[in-house]
Amino acid sequence: MTINRRIWLTGALLVALLALLYWPPSARNDVAFATDAETLAKGEYLVSAGGCISCHRGAADETAFSGGLGLESDFGTFHVPNITPDAATGIGGWTAGEFLRAMKHGRSPGGGFYFPSFPWRAYGGLADEDVLAMGSWLMSLEPVSFQAPEHETPWWLLRPFMAGWNLLAGLYAVGEEEFASDLVARGAYLARNLGHCGECHTPRNSLGILLGSREFAGAELGEDTVEAIDAAALEEWTFDNFDLFLLIGLKPDGEFVGGDMNEVIEYNTSRLTDEDRDALAAFFTRHSGED
Ligand code: HEC
Ligand code: HEC
Repeated sequence: MTINRRIWLTGALLVALLALLYWPPSARNDVAFATDAETLAKGEYLVSAGGCISCHRGAADETAFSGGLGLESDFGTFHVPNITPDAATGIGGWTAGEFLRAMKHGRSPGGGFYFPSFPWRAYGGLADEDVLAMGSWLMSLEPVSFQAPEHETPWWLLRPFMAGWNLLAGLYAVGEEEFASDLVARGAYLARNLGHCGECHTPRNSLGILLGSREFAGAELGEDTVEAIDAAALEEWTFDNFDLFLLIGLKPDGEFVGGDMNEVIEYNTSRLTDEDRDALAAFFTRHSGED
């Protein structure tokens, strides 16, 4: 093969690879938002367990999902968007397929990339029907007209770069795992996907990529240190300790947890069903959950 031909081939392969990375998966058109009471109740529960309100709460009304909060990070300030069904400033005009693609693949209806300040990579492991239930409930809310400001990020941080970032992040992700019981598997789903505990508790590299090999080994969050919650760190915690912690934030040493974790307890874990709280406790304390 001549040099020229080799360069040409390499170039063509690179272009093909880039195209593959950039091409948005098509939004499904065989799914729809539901309006039945059962799905809406399930959606409300999952949105609460997913901690969406911690970031999407309104600047004026803390109970609305109208956005506006500015999330500080090493890569600038990200202003959380409005996810109420307002057609102009929220997600009112979205199809169920577009919602599913945003939550699971990090792509906007226009095909653009979301930044990982939206922890969609955690939500990416959710079951389609769970995501659709969440979307159905959000669509049933009162629309609020509010346009979040533009993100304040460095000039070089461009959305298309997320294609490469996503590829790298995938290489560091936690692998498949066998679980001791259905309860533990449910706990893993709640911890890794819905509850996105790793977004704060797992260390990142300098690109902000979560290091799956050190899952829950503790991290820095702005000025705060976030404790490790891996098996070694939780050696002293029993299943019941963990269960009570998720409910009221009390640690086995008799102290109440502080910082951002308070919010996670208030908006998210304290509202879980007994069964789901047990599942999280079983997953973290490597306990079968059965006496
Ligand atoms: C840690 C903060 C955080 C949490 C938790 C969070 N989000 Fe977001 N979300 C964001 C940010 C920041 C963006 C904007 C990302 C961007 O512009 O690239 C976003 C974007 C979105 C979008 C796209 C909106 C648009 O106008 O394009 C949807 C839909 C969404 N989030 C839904 C949810 C749902 C549902 C949950 C809970 C299951 C959730 N988010 C939890 C921070 C968060
Ligand atoms: C928004 C970031 C954030 C998320 C998401 C988060 N945590 Fe935390 N967590 C913290 C911070 C910060 C602390 C330390 C609080 C303090 O200073 O007392 C903490 C502390 C804890 C502690 C106490 C550890 C110790 O030894 O004192 C446990 C246990 C814990 N988190 C479990 C969880 C679980 C389980 C989840 C997922 C359902 C979760 N966290 C999600 C930020 C977070």
